[in-house]
Amino acid sequence: MRLGRGLVLTGALAAGGYWLARYLRPQHSTLILADKVVLITGASTGIGRALAFAFARRGARVALVARSADRLEAVRREIEPYSAEVLAVPADLTDEAQLEAAVTRTLEHFGRIDVLVNNAGAIHGGRLIDLDPARIEQVLRLNLWAAIRLTQLSLPSMLARHSGYILNVASGLGRVAVPQVSTYVASKYGLAGFTDALRRELGGSGVRMTLVLPSWTHTDMLAPETKDVIERYGFRIDYPDEVAEQAIAALVAGRHEVILGGPLALLGVAVERYFPFLLRLYWRIFMTQEWSDAMSALGGEEAR
Ligand SMILES: NC(=O)c1ccc[n+]([C@@H]2O[C@H](COP(=O)([O-])OP(=O)(O)OC[C@H]3O[C@@H](n4cnc5c(N)ncnc54)[C@H](OP(=O)(O)O)[C@@H]3O)[C@@H](O)[C@H]2O)c1
Repeated sequence: MRLGRGLVLTGALAAGGYWLARYLRPQHSTLILADKVVLITGASTGIGRALAFAFARRGARVALVARSADRLEAVRREIEPYSAEVLAVPADLTDEAQLEAAVTRTLEHFGRIDVLVNNAGAIHGGRLIDLDPARIEQVLRLNLWAAIRLTQLSLPSMLARHSGYILNVASGLGRVAVPQVSTYVASKYGLAGFTDALRRELGGSGVRMTLVLPSWTHTDMLAPETKDVIERYGFRIDYPDEVAEQAIAALVAGRHEVILGGPLALLGVAVERYFPFLLRLYWRIFMTQEWSDAMSALGGEEAR
């Protein structure tokens, strides 16, 4: 009798373990990037530029989108020698007509989009009551609305071929609510939620979504004085090349979500999810004037 129950229990555990392993396994670990057409937004600097290099090195054909035609052209020239094909598409993605034109131009040139990388982003920090409403709108339009519209416009070509990949670059602040960057946090929580919901909507369609949550990264987004304070608070600041490599590894492995920035970033996300009161307490103690000044300086000249 006892032996029978033991066998049933072992069988149930084995079946549960098998189901869990299948459920958690990467879905598309066979993605080969050579010759894939990749549209990367925000490709003129920072993480987007690093992503453009990393995709090109893997043999992908890349369309680079950002506002500055000069900087895009410089990146295009740097990548060209070892890329299958590079196209620079200057566009302001907060403008509907320019956003649509960027997708149309890419489709006309390459005939399809295999991988859409929603990376372009901007930040605006400081206390909400001090923020410029026009700049709030710009940040939300770029970080969230543009990513949604680009996805909407790229999907038909992917769905028709039952194949496509969307890599959304959010932020650790898309899962952890840090004060004094509330509108940026709103845009990144929005992008994370959009990714989660659309992934479910697209289940079985052949279109896969990966959400990358980078931690603080050495780019133009962080003013030098902000970096000092972030490091004094104990946070790690990554380099764009590392972020790009890890983002592509996650995409190729079929990961749904990857949190970058090391153990402290992972801990932050876990504490926010399961023990949010601890973060409320933390920010009661540590929201100093120094932190406020550092957040107000985010985004560099453009944010002012
Ligand atoms: N740096 C960090 O600490 C950090 C941390 C976590 C997540 N992230 C996220 O990573 C992504 C890349 O940020 P980054 O740090 O690499 O910033 P970045 O160096 O400032 O790059 C931002 C990119 O977006 C482009 N861009 C800005 N406004 C645009 C617009 N209206 N239309 C089209 N393109 C526009 C910029 O080019 P133009 O100026 O030429 O348009 C640039 O190529 C963002 O989504 C950001 O939120 C950054």
